[in-house]
Amino acid sequence: MSKPVIFILLGPNLNMLGIREPHIYGHETIQDVEAMCRKEAATHGFDIVFEQSNHEGDLVTWIQEALKNAKGLIINAAAYTHTSIAIYDALKMLENTVSIVEVHHSNPKEREPFRHFSYVEPHAFAHFAGHGARGYIMGLEALAERFGADK
Ligand code: DQA
Repeated sequence: MSKPVIFILLGPNLNMLGIREPHIYGHETIQDVEAMCRKEAATHGFDIVFEQSNHEGDLVTWIQEALKNAKGLIINAAAYTHTSIAIYDALKMLENTVSIVEVHHSNPKEREPFRHFSYVEPHAFAHFAGHGARGYIMGLEALAERFGADK
């Protein structure tokens, strides 16, 4: 049987992890985050597709691809979390098909008011914010638990 595929999508400015406000987003680089995710995914028998883009349309396209190929999707849409109806609409298509987890390095709800609203939140069954890069690992664990319960 083929392994469940999990898409892990990161939005704008997250390619600068490690350099960008490390007191808020942590010291790990995006390469470190990808390596951590690949290691954790292997322990659960997942195949992962790990992508980052600074462009909204790329994220929309990958979400559409997830509809065809993935069982789970972990998304940190970064600033687009708070602005993107396009991402909201794309995620809506995954409802009942792909399990979605929302991740943020920081906790946006404890920051500026413009970060309090999330277009991702209504679609996600699990949310990890304020745990730094560990949030992605927690997301993979949550998916493993959910799929285990499906068996
Ligand atoms: C973020 C929080 C967002 O508000 C911000 O725009 C980001 C990163 C986080 O991971 O904490 O770029 O999603």
